[in-house]
Amino acid sequence: MENEKFIIQGLEGQRAFEGKIPVRGAKNAVLKTFAASLLFGNEIRVDNVPFIQDIANMNELLRHLGVGVERIEEKSFVLNSPDAIGTDLCGDIAKSFRSSIVLTGPILAREGKVIFPHPGGCVIGERPIDIFLESFKKMGADIDMHDRQYVISADKLAGAEIVFKIPSVTATETLMMTATLVPGKTILHNVACEPEIVALADFLNTGGADISGAGSHTIVIKGRDSLLKSKEPYQTPPDRIEAGSFAILAAVCGKDIEITDCKPDHLRVFLRTFDNAGVNFETTENSIRIKMSPQLNAINVKTHEYPGIPTDLQSPLAVFLTQASGRSLIFETVFESRLDYLSELSRMGADVMICDPHRAFITGVTPLRGREIESPDLRAGLAFIIAALVAKGESIVHNIHNIDRGYENIEERLQMVGADIKRI
Ligand code: EPU
Repeated sequence: MENEKFIIQGLEGQRAFEGKIPVRGAKNAVLKTFAASLLFGNEIRVDNVPFIQDIANMNELLRHLGVGVERIEEKSFVLNSPDAIGTDLCGDIAKSFRSSIVLTGPILAREGKVIFPHPGGCVIGERPIDIFLESFKKMGADIDMHDRQYVISADKLAGAEIVFKIPSVTATETLMMTATLVPGKTILHNVACEPEIVALADFLNTGGADISGAGSHTIVIKGRDSLLKSKEPYQTPPDRIEAGSFAILAAVCGKDIEITDCKPDHLRVFLRTFDNAGVNFETTENSIRIKMSPQLNAINVKTHEYPGIPTDLQSPLAVFLTQASGRSLIFETVFESRLDYLSELSRMGADVMICDPHRAFITGVTPLRGREIESPDLRAGLAFIIAALVAKGESIVHNIHNIDRGYENIEERLQMVGADIKRI
């Protein structure tokens, strides 16, 4: 709810948390799979779905288009797309989250038309959609604008060779889904290779799509002229951003914490950086255990597309760096305005020097002070929770609807390792 907040008592720099903390299914995987239900000629089942606000928004949009969405178990949904679907995305909901954009490709491919507003989401940069629009055009669509809505239409779409100017994650997923139902061969160059894209391609292939190269920078899709039939349920992969954020929390607040139900292989470069910083950890195939480290050391953090350090871990890492000894550089290379939260962190006592919109120095170790803070976006919101848990005294985190967009019952899972956090 809009006016809920977290009240958090900090540890004053002690490392006291102990126990296990489970990771939920990946938000940025499952949202795209729900959108992919539009491509299927029969019911699809999706497992390991996190219970988060972005999923509720996606479900509302899908229902508005005519899709049957049913939660059959705590973490499982079935989705059933009818023979004819709507072509108009409901403006207010679509504007509230970025993933609404991934619906546009399947709708266009099926119905030859789609109308939608500029998608919303976290305010972390300009977030243009030119790659989507140029790609639809290359496949034969006309682009128009009416009443601040995009109107994309096509009498006939055809496979095309498309070079992305930047390896955009959602554009890769959207165009992969579009090309699945577009006649001919589509080759997408310079695409993103995040694990969530591979999971989506694998799922579409189990339903009869012909997609090769997902996970590399070139994807080839041979279009089908009929809808796919799903054969197997989709298993949502674990959320690597949640796992990485919990690992950061464990490093700065933990005595001995095991992060379970995750896939450390999806965090290789991040964990390599953790190693350089002196974090005491070990991994199994599906867990990360972090024990108290004698000292955390300054490191340089450069965000990058997968497999590099995810931009979504940049803000939690900044909190980590306040507790690491020496001067660290953060270099945000993916988004334009993703360092704005640092001014709030410095009001909590962090020693931060912002150099330009992409770079900042953080010098540690600094004690942090509890404060009243606004959560500016999903990832910085969780970073503030971690900062509040490190700090001395009480913090109040407002705007937690931003955090609920992506983390299921975050306070309950943090309480499991000993955090003093309450939702009011
Ligand atoms: N870009 C363009 N034109 C486009 C699309 C993107 O110039 O048409 C630029 C962006 O401005 C940005 C860069 O490309 O500078 C990369 O952005 P990308 O498109 O990859 O980001 P996204 O697809 O909008 C997804 C995740 C983000 C995550 C980024 C990067 C979803 C729903 N969102 O966003 O997740 O930060 O990839 O990994 O998958 C989050 O979960 O909190 C979140 C922001």
